[in-house]
Amino acid sequence: MKWLSLAVALITPSQAALRFGCSTLSIQRLDPLVEPGRIPSAHVHQIVGGNAFNATMAGDIGEQGSCTTCTFSEDFSNYWTAVMFFKHQNGSYKRVPIMQNTALPNGISGGMTIYYTQQDFNSNGNQKITSFKPGFRMTVGSPTTNTLDGAKGHAGLRFVCLENKGTRFPELPDFPTKPCKGGIMTVHHFPSCWDGKNLDSPDHQSHMYNTAKEAFSPAGPCPASHPVRMPQLAYETLWDTTQFNSLWPKDGSNPFVLSFGDNKGYGTHADYVFGWKGDSLQRAMDSSCMFTACENGKPLKSQAVAQMNKCAVKNSVIEDLDGWLPQLPGMRME
Ligand SMILES: *[C@@H]1O[C@H](CO)[C@@H](O)[C@H](O)[C@H]1NC(C)=O
Ligand SMILES: *[C@@H]1O[C@H](CO)[C@@H](O)[C@H](O)[C@H]1NC(C)=O
Repeated sequence: MKWLSLAVALITPSQAALRFGCSTLSIQRLDPLVEPGRIPSAHVHQIVGGNAFNATMAGDIGEQGSCTTCTFSEDFSNYWTAVMFFKHQNGSYKRVPIMQNTALPNGISGGMTIYYTQQDFNSNGNQKITSFKPGFRMTVGSPTTNTLDGAKGHAGLRFVCLENKGTRFPELPDFPTKPCKGGIMTVHHFPSCWDGKNLDSPDHQSHMYNTAKEAFSPAGPCPASHPVRMPQLAYETLWDTTQFNSLWPKDGSNPFVLSFGDNKGYGTHADYVFGWKGDSLQRAMDSSCMFTACENGKPLKSQAVAQMNKCAVKNSVIEDLDGWLPQLPGMRME
C-alpha cells in the first residue's frame, strides 16, 4: 500500500501555472539587487510586489512585508524592469505609461503580469518543481548587452509589437522599427535551473542556468551543474506607446529608449527578489491549479484589485519622472 501511494506520488503530474497581475508599487531610481544601498541608483525602474522594497533588502522578505500589489496576498516578492521613455525629436524625454494586461481583473494600476509555470507551460516533466528559498534573488539580461547577436542570445528576453493587448507574436530581440497600434510589450523569462546551493552570486546570474526557449515552448533539461528545477518565472509589461505614434521621427528611427539610454533594446533586463510567505509558493507549484483557479485559498490567499492598488512604498528618491525631461534621469546629457 505504501509503495503504491509513493509510486502514484512520483508519477502524478503537477500542472500548476500561476499568472497574475501586480499593480505598480513604485517607479524610482532604486536597485537593491545590483546597487544595494545606492540612493539614487543609476537608472529608473518600475517595481511591483511587496512593500518591504527599499534600497537595501536582506533576509526573508516574505516575513517583512505588510502589503503587496500582487493578486496573491502572501507574495511579498519584488519584480522590476527598466522603464521605457519616448525621445522627442526636440531632444526631450517623456516616460511611457504602463498599461494593464489583457485577461486580468479590471482596474489594475499599471504594473506587470507575473508567471510561475512548470518546466513547460503545463507539465512539470514528471519532476518536482522546487520553490525559490528565502533570500533568493537573480537578474536576467544585462544593460551592457549592445549587439543584436547578444540580444538574440538571450532567449526569453523579447519585445512584441502589439496589434492589441492579446498579440504575442512575433517576438523580437530588439525594439520594433515601426509604430505599434496597440503599444509595445516587453517579456522577460528567467532561468529556472538552480545550482542547489547559492541564493545569489556575484553577477546575480551564475547560480542559475537557462534552458528556456522562445515564448513558453518546452524547456530543455537542467544540466548537472544546475540540477534543481525551479519555477519558470516570467514577466510581461505593456507600454502604452500609442500616444507617441504620431510623433514618430520622419527618418523612421525608433524613438523609444530604455531608462539606461538603450534605444535598440539589446540591454533589456529584469530583476527578482523572492518573498513568498512560508511554503505558499511550494504549495502552489505542487498543486495543479491554473491561473485564477489558484485564488481564494485554493491553495493561495488572494486579494481584490482595490487592495492591490492601495499598497505602495514611500519614494526615497525625489525627482520628476513624468514631465518632459531634458535628459533621462541619472543619465548625463550628451
Ligand atoms: C530597509 O528595510 C530594512 C529592513 O529590511 C530596514 O532595516 C532599513 O532601515 C530600510 N532602509 C530604508 C532606507 O528604508
Ligand atoms: C519638446 O516637445 C514637447 C512636446 O511638444 C514639449 O513639451 C517640450 O517642451 C519640447 N522640448 C523642447 C526642449 O523644446
